[in-house]
Amino acid sequence: MLCDNQIFAAPMAGITDRPFRRIVREFSPNAPMVTEMISCHSIVGAHKNCLRNFDNYADEGAIGAQIFGADVNLMADAARILQDAGAKWIDINMGCPVPKVATRAGAGAHLMQDHKLAGNIMTAVVRAVQIPVSIKTRLGWDDAHRDWRNLIDIAADCGVRFAALHGRTRAQLYLGGAVHPDVSTCPIPVIANGDIRTADDVKRAYDLGYSGVMIGRGLMGAPWIINQICGGCAPDNVGEIVLRHLEYAIEYYGAATAIPMFRKHAAWYSAGMPNSSAFRIHVNQITDANLLKVAIREFWGMI
Ligand SMILES: Cc1cc2nc3c(=O)[nH]c(=O)nc-3n(C[C@H](O)[C@H](O)[C@H](O)COP(=O)(O)O)c2cc1C
Repeated sequence: MLCDNQIFAAPMAGITDRPFRRIVREFSPNAPMVTEMISCHSIVGAHKNCLRNFDNYADEGAIGAQIFGADVNLMADAARILQDAGAKWIDINMGCPVPKVATRAGAGAHLMQDHKLAGNIMTAVVRAVQIPVSIKTRLGWDDAHRDWRNLIDIAADCGVRFAALHGRTRAQLYLGGAVHPDVSTCPIPVIANGDIRTADDVKRAYDLGYSGVMIGRGLMGAPWIINQICGGCAPDNVGEIVLRHLEYAIEYYGAATAIPMFRKHAAWYSAGMPNSSAFRIHVNQITDANLLKVAIREFWGMI
C-alpha cells in the first residue's frame, strides 16, 4: 500500500497556494508539498504580494518553499528568509520554461544550460540554510541536450539532498508524454514528475529507481488524488469540497481577490460533468461570494 508521504504535490504558480494546500492536506496530511515558485528578488525585497505566500509556513506540515532566480547571493538570502518563515526545505527551480523566467531572468530552465551558475547557486543556498535543499529540473534544454544526469551529479556534489525530475525537456514545455529515465544509479534520491496519475504510474516510477513521485495537474479539480492513489476513495460530495476550498480562499485573500481566482478551480472541479460549460460561464460572471456559493450548491445538487 502506498503512503501519502511518498507523493509530492508539485509547485504550480497560481494554483498551489495556501488555500489549495489546505484542501490537499485534508485528504493527504503527510504529503510533501512545494509552494508556487517565488522570485528571490521578491522575497528579499519583501514584495507585498509575495509576503502572503511565505509569511506562515510554520503551521504547515511538510512544505518546501520554491525559489527562482539567477543571483547567487539573493538566492541564498531568500532561502534564509524562507527558512525563518518555517519552510521545511528549500527547492530551487531549474525547470521553469516560460520566457520571463528562463530567458529574460536567466533563471529556471536556463540553469540547465549554465551548470556553472547552477552549481554556484546550489552551493550558496545549501550553505545558507540548515534545512534540506532540493532542485526541480527537467530532462534537459532540448532533445540535443538531455543532460539531466550531469545536473543531478553536480547537485549531489553541492550538497543538494534530492531532485524532482520532470520527464520533459524545456523545448517540450508541457507537450508530449513525459518520459521517466532510469535513475537507479543517481547519487541522490530522485522524484518522478510528469503525467503521474495512478498507483500503477507510481509503481513504474519505483521500478525505475525513483524514491517518490510528484503530481501537478492531476491535482487540479481533484485535491484528493494523492489519497486516492494510496487506496482512498474520491469524495461522495464534491460540492462540499468546492465550498470549503472557496471558504479557505476567501479567508486568505478576501472575497474580491478570491472570487476571480477561484473561477479556474470551479472549472476544473466541474469538468466533464453535465452542464459544466453553462456552469463555467455563469461562475465567470459572479462577483459576489454568496451568489457563488449558491451556484456551487445548485450545480452539485446540494439545494
Ligand atoms: C499552471 C502551472 C504552473 C506551474 N508552476 C510551476 C512552478 O511554480 N514551479 C515549478 O517548478 N513548476 C511549475 N509547474 C510545473 C509542474 O510543477 C510540473 O512539473 C508539471 O506540470 C508536470 O507535472 P504533471 O504532469 O503532474 O502536471 C507548473 C505547471 C503548471 C501546469
